[in-house]
Amino acid sequence: MFDLITSLLLFQISTNIVKAESKFTLQEYQQNASVTSCTEGLISSVDKIVYNTTIYLSRFDQRVRFFAYEIRMSDEEFHTVCFLKIPNQCHSYEYNYICYCEPTRDNTIYNMLVNVTAENSYRMLRFAATLNNYIKLYSEPKKLPRIVDKAKFTMRLFINNEEMDVTNCSATVNSSQLNITSKCVDTPSPCWLEAFDTIRNKSLLQMEQSLQVLHEFSKSTQEEIELRLNVCLMKYVDVVYCTIRIDYQDEYQVKTVDVALIIIVTSITVIMALGVLIIVIKKSKDGVHSRFRKGKPEKVETDTMLNSASC
Ligand SMILES: *[C@@H]1O[C@H](CO)[C@@H](O)[C@H](O)[C@H]1NC(C)=O
Ligand SMILES: *[C@@H]1O[C@H](CO)[C@@H](O)[C@H](O)[C@H]1NC(C)=O
Ligand SMILES: *[C@@H]1O[C@H](CO)[C@@H](O)[C@H](O)[C@H]1NC(C)=O
Ligand SMILES: *[C@@H]1O[C@H](CO)[C@@H](O)[C@H](O)[C@H]1NC(C)=O
Ligand SMILES: *[C@@H]1O[C@H](CO)[C@@H](O)[C@H](O)[C@H]1NC(C)=O
Ligand SMILES: *[C@@H]1O[C@H](CO)[C@@H](O)[C@H](O)[C@H]1NC(C)=O
Ligand SMILES: *[C@@H]1O[C@H](CO)[C@@H](O)[C@H](O)[C@H]1NC(C)=O
Repeated sequence: MFDLITSLLLFQISTNIVKAESKFTLQEYQQNASVTSCTEGLISSVDKIVYNTTIYLSRFDQRVRFFAYEIRMSDEEFHTVCFLKIPNQCHSYEYNYICYCEPTRDNTIYNMLVNVTAENSYRMLRFAATLNNYIKLYSEPKKLPRIVDKAKFTMRLFINNEEMDVTNCSATVNSSQLNITSKCVDTPSPCWLEAFDTIRNKSLLQMEQSLQVLHEFSKSTQEEIELRLNVCLMKYVDVVYCTIRIDYQDEYQVKTVDVALIIIVTSITVIMALGVLIIVIKKSKDGVHSRFRKGKPEKVETDTMLNSASC
């Protein structure tokens, strides 16, 4: 029973949350304090989370062993990220450490900063002071911004209202009007999308967050479009390559086919007519020849007859 009460007491005293007005103040998260090119959210393993806590040493009624930043991960437990003994370890030149301390003109006030690489498992952050008697005082936990893995940045893509597989994009459309619609999914901001025509080597459109290209490709049968994703100024974190087969006949093509048919039919008719004419001419010429040849023996015969008559 005594052990239980002691444990409860210890539990209670070891989870003292320091109210805003008291011994230290952990500043609210500020995107512009972090080391990132994102305006909202952070990139896991790339960006750095920066928090700044002001410590008022004179408001503690006993010595503090150390001050620490703690992060709660997806496993729901707080882990110490770094700790410092203050004032002993307050050296402003150590700014390239995970934690560092800046003294102020008042030797009872110090700023302790954390500058830690963001990881997508991070959820909450708090500041802790461990007193000489091992009692710990905590700040209110702060919710960390959205931290997204670069490999998870993606887009949704529709071609003429049909959703594309972004790992293998190919479409067959039956209209000359192409509607390429795409949007960023689960990315920090800013997220830019670009539709790029790889056949003509030119950009069709660039838009932030979502994009819609309405394009007419009247005389082609195949288009190759690249959808490029640019997140927080990182160039092309994802590129989706799409082959679009355009399977339709527009008026222009129908007319061409008609004209071609007419030309072919006319040509065939003319050729056939010419052929007939040549045959007729040849036949009539042959007739003259045969009559001529036939005439000769007749003449011979006559000659023979004449000769025989003269004899
Ligand atoms: C960061 O943004 C806040 C407003 O959101 C502004 O008050 C503060 O001065 C900015 N800090 C820096 C270092 O730009
Ligand atoms: C930390 O916060 C204090 C108080 O707001 C400020 O004076 C100090 O410049 C901040 N330090 C950094 C490195 O931003
Ligand atoms: C955080 O660390 C990076 C280097 O890792 C540095 O460029 C940046 O200035 C630091 N920022 C702060 C506020 O300490
Ligand atoms: C283009 O496609 C998108 C997504 O399928 C749809 O919401 C939109 O209404 C379409 N726009 C036109 C002009 O067809
Ligand atoms: C890609 O899609 C095409 C048609 O939709 C399919 O024939 C082909 O097998 C797919 N390739 C892969 C690697 O999934
Ligand atoms: C084009 O295809 C859509 C479905 O993919 C269909 O609803 C539409 O009738 C087709 N249009 C023509 C002209 O074949
Ligand atoms: C595409 O265009 C760019 C300039 O707009 C040029 O530098 C590049 O060489 C071109 N690429 C091809 C394959 O034509």
